[in-house]
Amino acid sequence: MSRRRAGFESIARLAELADFTLAFAIRAVAHLGVADHLAEGPRRVGDLAAEIGAHERSLLRTLRALATAGVFAEPEPGLFALTPLSELLRGDHPLSMRWAFRLRPDVDAWAEMEHTLRTGETAFDHVFGTDYWSHLAANPALQAQFRDSQRALTRLELQTLTRLYDWRGLRTVVDLGGNDGTFLCGLLSRYPQMRGTVFDLPGTVAEAAKTAADAGVADRCAAVGGSLFETPLPAGADAYTIKRVLIGLADDEVVTLLRILRGVMRPDSRLLVLEPRDAPDDLSISMDLHMLVLGEGHVRSPERFGELLAEAGMSVAAVVDARLLNLIDARPG
Ligand SMILES: C[S@@+](CC[C@H](N)C(=O)[O-])C[C@H]1O[C@@H](n2cnc3c(N)ncnc32)[C@H](O)[C@@H]1O
Repeated sequence: MSRRRAGFESIARLAELADFTLAFAIRAVAHLGVADHLAEGPRRVGDLAAEIGAHERSLLRTLRALATAGVFAEPEPGLFALTPLSELLRGDHPLSMRWAFRLRPDVDAWAEMEHTLRTGETAFDHVFGTDYWSHLAANPALQAQFRDSQRALTRLELQTLTRLYDWRGLRTVVDLGGNDGTFLCGLLSRYPQMRGTVFDLPGTVAEAAKTAADAGVADRCAAVGGSLFETPLPAGADAYTIKRVLIGLADDEVVTLLRILRGVMRPDSRLLVLEPRDAPDDLSISMDLHMLVLGEGHVRSPERFGELLAEAGMSVAAVVDARLLNLIDARPG
């Protein structure tokens, strides 16, 4: 290959890696609900724009750009249809990803990533003057969007987690940092023997009663609001689950929390740590960099969790590779 040609290929690849246009275009059409308006079949862009209150020419250019990437189809000029990718942007899809994407404040923090590289400080805190959870707590609309994003991910994760781990013997489960109860209620609706408590910050866990009612498990689901580090946690459950929470914490905070947990567990309780995998793939790399920009945490290997668990008086009984997550089954002792 000539040096000149190799140079152009590298330029094209670098430009592709640095590009963010389609990422924003996908978010914008997801917010507008375009996919829901195509659910009944292909539509002309003018009708679509009128229905969703969009600017026709801007919508045309955006949908056409997304069609080149397979997110929509344009079977004839100006006529747009769903594809398998945009089906997932429908709000009523069982695995809907309409609200799955990173929030606006995350994007603002990313724009200041250079600050983190220069100083080691969290870009998010630098931009907003406060940490991620405090910012959400002060902005209920953002908090609702965050809940939706976690719900979308959890629906996906539940598919694998319920297939790859045996939950049938567990009668009492406490889900720590369980957001609006989507994960716990997903378990409760699949396992009728199970009762559970979801624990999260007060503004977030307030939604759990609705989640439980919608899932038909209100009689087996309790909710407790508070801080994992300050509020007494429900004691003596068969299992404690903690999904995508430790990734946001620094090592010393993880050990502090694990010690608190060890203190409320029975000798035969189990702690199920559900965390993004540390594989050398796009998802793990993306999660780790998000943590660099947004908080104090990072992606950890099961071996590293083994060391942190040992510091808190626990050991790893099993590690299950559940595709999007690792499940680390830890026991006291
Ligand atoms: C990335 S989300 C994961 C939510 C849920 N476990 C899931 O997997 O979808 C982290 C959760 O931890 C909660 N959280 C963060 N710090 C907390 C604290 N100090 N006390 C209680 N909950 C906390 C947040 O409110 C949020 O719901």
